[in-house]
Amino acid sequence: KSIKDLGDLKGKRVVIRCDFNVPLDGDTITDDGRIKAALPTLDELREAGARVVVLAHLGRPKGEVNPKYSLAPVAKRLGELLGTEVKLAGDVVGPSAQETAAALADGEVALMENVRYEKGEESKDEAERIELAKKYAELGDVYVSEGFGVVHRKQASVYDIAKLLPSAAGLLVKKEGDVFSKVLSDPERPFVVVLGGAKVADKLAVIDNLLKLADTVIIGGGMAYTFLKAQGHEVGSSLLDEANVETCKGYLEQAKAAGKQLLLPVDVRIAKGMDFDAKTVDGAVTVVKSDAIPADQGGLDIGPETEKLFADTIKAAKTVVWNGPMGVFEIEELSNGTKAVAKALTEVDGLSVVGGGDSAAAVREFGHADSDFGHVSTGGGASLEYLEGKELPGLTVLEGKN
Ligand code: 3PG
Repeated sequence: KSIKDLGDLKGKRVVIRCDFNVPLDGDTITDDGRIKAALPTLDELREAGARVVVLAHLGRPKGEVNPKYSLAPVAKRLGELLGTEVKLAGDVVGPSAQETAAALADGEVALMENVRYEKGEESKDEAERIELAKKYAELGDVYVSEGFGVVHRKQASVYDIAKLLPSAAGLLVKKEGDVFSKVLSDPERPFVVVLGGAKVADKLAVIDNLLKLADTVIIGGGMAYTFLKAQGHEVGSSLLDEANVETCKGYLEQAKAAGKQLLLPVDVRIAKGMDFDAKTVDGAVTVVKSDAIPADQGGLDIGPETEKLFADTIKAAKTVVWNGPMGVFEIEELSNGTKAVAKALTEVDGLSVVGGGDSAAAVREFGHADSDFGHVSTGGGASLEYLEGKELPGLTVLEGKN
């Protein structure tokens, strides 16, 4: 159901769950993409004369009130972007939330404090979640699900509340769902998937599903070294997930048997090490073939030959989905690979999708606009679980399946 199916919203209180889990540097929001992505729905609700009660989380305060995770910076930024004051309640469902929600006039927006201050929000105990969801439901007449980044979480403000109030998907959840479902069910080919990031273990289920659906799977970033090891190469001090070398070997064989391309780096940028916090590299960054990494050095980015190989493959595709960096892009010297992939995605003559909160923040940091891509997802874990082919509770509940 869409917002239109909720009927005349004038004077009605709409509880809307957004994903405003934005990166912060102190009190400063360093990437407000997730807030901007919810604006069309919030504007539509305001124009309809709704009284908008926003639920959101920030970080993982684990059921404890902790000012470090207050949504105050989000309320301020949201107000600036909407061009109107957004009041922040002092609690989630307590007296302040109830008063703030009750005091809303038509077209006004208020934000409740971090839903994860409440133990029930993430509880595994359904009864505890429902008890909290009932309190959320008392803040409004209808529910709109707009936090695509959290639809993989079976949590009170995402899942349980949708069973208690007339519910609909917001424009962002609808758009994200449409893009990912098109990619998985009816992609224009060639369909290329680019995966990166540090941990291969986080991406195994995605690789498994996408090896079946895509024509080419490109693997870079820290996770590539476990694949290089599986090919029989030594990887020096690069990130290596010994426990998954055999699994990666299996994927290489599976790809070969199915006539799919599984592309790995052919050269890499290496160094003795790096200090992530200080953003410095130990010694010089050099380029070697990926089968010639010395024992005392580790791969920290893909090399120039690989950049070209990956970029050419991406540019020749009709559908591209990218999740995860090619190297330690936060350090300038190690950002070339990730930049090359981001740029190649802007040149795709077809649908290019940037998945993942971190990848989205990275492309913006590199100076690209969201409009340079077919779609920049607001979902990190959620988009990965979608690509794994999993059912996402926050979506299925809207379809009345649960
Ligand atoms: C995200 O940042 O991916 C979402 O906001 C979900 O956050 P979580 O992984 O803490 O549930």
